[in-house]
Amino acid sequence: MCGIVGYVGGAECAPILLDGLRRLEYRGYDSAGTAIFDGQRIGVLRAVGKLRNLEKAVDEAKPAGTTGIGHTRWATHGRPSEVNAHPHLVGDVAVVHNGIIENHLALRARLSAAGATIQSDTDTELVAHLIDSHVRAGEGLEGAVRAALRELHGAYALAVLSAREPERLVVAKNASPLVIGLGDGETYCGSDIPALLPYTRDMVFLEDGEMAVLERGGARITRLDGTLVEREPRYIDWSPVMAEKAGFKHFMLKEIFEQPRAMEDTLRGRLDRERGDINELEIGLDASAAAAVRRVYLLACGTSYHAAMTGRYFIERLARVPATVEIASEFRGRSPVVGEGDLVIAVSQSGETLDTLVAAKEAKANGAKVLAIANVIGSAIPRMADGAFYTHAGPEIGVASTKCFTTQLANLLMVAIWLANRRGHLDADATRALVEDMARLPHLMRDTLMSTRQLVANIAKRYNDARDVLFLGRGPSFPIALEGALKLKEISYVHAEGYAAGEMKHGPIALIDAAVPVLVLCPKDAWYERTLGNLEEARAREAQVIAIATEGDEAARNVSHDLVEIPSVREELTPFLTVLPLQLYAYYVADFKGTDVDQPRNLAKTVTVE
Ligand code: F6R
Repeated sequence: MCGIVGYVGGAECAPILLDGLRRLEYRGYDSAGTAIFDGQRIGVLRAVGKLRNLEKAVDEAKPAGTTGIGHTRWATHGRPSEVNAHPHLVGDVAVVHNGIIENHLALRARLSAAGATIQSDTDTELVAHLIDSHVRAGEGLEGAVRAALRELHGAYALAVLSAREPERLVVAKNASPLVIGLGDGETYCGSDIPALLPYTRDMVFLEDGEMAVLERGGARITRLDGTLVEREPRYIDWSPVMAEKAGFKHFMLKEIFEQPRAMEDTLRGRLDRERGDINELEIGLDASAAAAVRRVYLLACGTSYHAAMTGRYFIERLARVPATVEIASEFRGRSPVVGEGDLVIAVSQSGETLDTLVAAKEAKANGAKVLAIANVIGSAIPRMADGAFYTHAGPEIGVASTKCFTTQLANLLMVAIWLANRRGHLDADATRALVEDMARLPHLMRDTLMSTRQLVANIAKRYNDARDVLFLGRGPSFPIALEGALKLKEISYVHAEGYAAGEMKHGPIALIDAAVPVLVLCPKDAWYERTLGNLEEARAREAQVIAIATEGDEAARNVSHDLVEIPSVREELTPFLTVLPLQLYAYYVADFKGTDVDQPRNLAKTVTVE
């Protein structure tokens, strides 16, 4: 997830671009840059790190010009570095890009064979080369961009500036967001509304498969086949605070609702629906190494630990490899029996959690192969690992992890399917069926969020003064019960416990009385009947029972006070959906209590201390 901005008009554009980038910094902040036409040529300024480094460079260079583009980067291809920062300038063409070009390897090979000198590791530079080659072949900028787009597969929001036609920008969109702002004698573009809001409230939203030519007088939108699109601007009446959070009250709520998009980005280029297979993943293993894996250790902390617990279930069930999940701080220093033949999967949103880092280093020193599943490109854990398999959730601002949890689950399930297939435990048909079902996740998550939001808010309001809350689940729902309890504890400060439902009778059942809400995860899976039994036991002890169940489950409806329904899916996919109402429950309880949802007391987003 990156942020892009563009301006064409009568004003000096450097301050406008920087201001837009500041408002987009939440989308990525590992490097930033601008490209501005100075009357003769395009000047590019780029800086690694936070935006203030670019601001300093702009302050020193003082680029003048009234047409320009800007970018704040969240690395997906290539480490954060100046050469990988956008804009990418090739010949007379400068490009900024948000998204992932799936056919980048084929494009790179083709362009290199044709003699292009490619400087960076990014997919975006390849787009600049493509457009430049069409410009040099005599096409105008619009035609050159259109021709290049026909050769791209994947997600993009692009803004393109050419020194040959400096009075316009060409923008295009597929799967990544792009908004056009219409001013008085000036036209803007940006990744989202907040970037443009101080300048105009008249906005046009580009749709997938569309491009536009922006000039001072406005925007002309066409489809890729050249047909003209007429679209009325919309007036946006958001306040500045609403704008920063895209209209949501808190970053956490925004991130909860971003999960379908984050899932789409994470699955893109990895699931191959045509072949019905998982592509070779960036996990540092080939098929023979997959066959040689003796045992898997999953190491993580907090929410990532709950994802790792679910990962153990995926790996054992599908790939039939013995898997152990460990709290990283417990694993390190206890001389664990780990070494050659073992695959250690270190799961960490930040990629910087010290306990996970040290535990993974110890395992590596003993001869194990280490695979990092992380969200922050180039962070410490992926750097020390043998393979880095990134989630593409984009920056997570809320301290309580939501979208990174579900995308971690996706990466873990993809690793499990890949291992299972390469080790001969999943045949082609079973692999295809799993790939097909996983590809539906963004859509299923969107449906679940929309259909449960109001109901869960009502339930949370009713129980928001409960002092203790229990979460129960079995099998893949057990880690989700733990995660539901952790979310509630950390943002609402309510005491909550997650239990394996089968453990109830061994102690926790003593806690239950009429004042205790019990959230029971009982999707239709192999554990369903037994979990329903636990639900009835809780009900018999007068608990307030809230069931998270498969849609149409009348038995669960009859024995619970409240029923939250999720779509019917195969067992491996239930955690992706059952966790959504639990995130919402925690959020609404905290919001009713008025706690600091995005920055709960005593917590930090990245834990680099022991
Ligand atoms: C809870 C939460 C934390 C983190 C934990 C590990 O919502 O976010 O429990 O999961 O601190 O952090 P990472 O994943 O960055 O290693």
